[in-house]
Amino acid sequence: MNIDGKAWRTIWLEPEGRSVGVIDQTLLPHHFTTRSLASVEAAAAAIRTMVVRGAPLIGVTGAYGLMLALQADPSDASLAAAFEQLNATRPTAVNLRWALERVRDRVQPLPPAQRAEAAQREAAAIADEDVAMCEAIGEHGLAVFQRLAAARPPERQGQPFQVLTHCNAGWLATVDWGTALAPIYKAHRAGLNLHVWVDETRPRNQGASLTAYELGREGVPHTVIVDNAGGHLMQHGQVDAVIVGTDRTTRRGDVCNKIGTYLKALAAHDNGVPFYVALPASTIDWSLDDGVAEIPIEARSPEEVTAIQGRVLAGPAAGELASVQLTPDGSPGFNPGFDVTPARLVTALITERGVSPATEAGLRGLYGHG
Ligand code: MRU
Repeated sequence: MNIDGKAWRTIWLEPEGRSVGVIDQTLLPHHFTTRSLASVEAAAAAIRTMVVRGAPLIGVTGAYGLMLALQADPSDASLAAAFEQLNATRPTAVNLRWALERVRDRVQPLPPAQRAEAAQREAAAIADEDVAMCEAIGEHGLAVFQRLAAARPPERQGQPFQVLTHCNAGWLATVDWGTALAPIYKAHRAGLNLHVWVDETRPRNQGASLTAYELGREGVPHTVIVDNAGGHLMQHGQVDAVIVGTDRTTRRGDVCNKIGTYLKALAAHDNGVPFYVALPASTIDWSLDDGVAEIPIEARSPEEVTAIQGRVLAGPAAGELASVQLTPDGSPGFNPGFDVTPARLVTALITERGVSPATEAGLRGLYGHG
């Protein structure tokens, strides 16, 4: 997608072939800075500290991380250690394990001398496939939006089609296009008059900082709202559809996404607002059924709750990034990173293969396996 007229992906192999470039997402929206990851340790740290984040992008970073490990040492022991190190960085998004297994299974049968190059090819293939899957999600989602927009009552036809999204499931969360935001970009480019309500997404504010940044750069009309505003907007007919991404989808269609997604699904259900979840195949965990019981939820630092980062508005430090404390000294914080929305609250899944009910039969109908 575009930053100041230049097309970017979120991750790329540097020309010398021994390091990987990424955009530092901890500094957005205030600073656009790239970083070079030159070792498996650097790749693991980038995932853990959320320099890169979003389920598909974590997966691609993990894949390139294995390449970096094998460039340094192509032995079986190095491969196994790097797999474990990368897989332990973040527990919820299944794309990470999926991508690591794919690279490991590709390179393990090869003589050590051939492994790094094979890992590079596989990581690049995963990245390219992610772009293609996200663009296809965008096309299928565009058709959904066009149908919903056309079905609105005559008095609403002249008004913007109102979409609400939570967290960041845009191009910054993937390699390009995004999952939940891909249909929004496609719709905007197709000339659909639409407006996006962007949940700020406390505690890390991926909506306020990343989704708003992306939409602004692409010229998509949007408004940032506090996480608690969505239900009110739905009650007053100001949301035509909700669309979110997912970090792990069980075979029966339960979806695990950024904390707070479940509450949006409940509000949407209560107000008859369609609730869509956009995902590529790499996000489906066919081994799991009941998402609430079975998906591991990342426990993040309480400091993300008790403090907040932003740009200083005034005074001697104006313009600098700073963290400020929100809570009284001594008040503990609790910070589960994700929650699970049961399939019964999901209107449909929008995948690269088409739109399906959030059911095992629906997913198997699209993918035909398990
Ligand atoms: O903690 P994050 O920022 O990695 O969480 C990201 C999300 O929850 C996204 O919605 C999800 O990864 C789907 S991204 C296409």
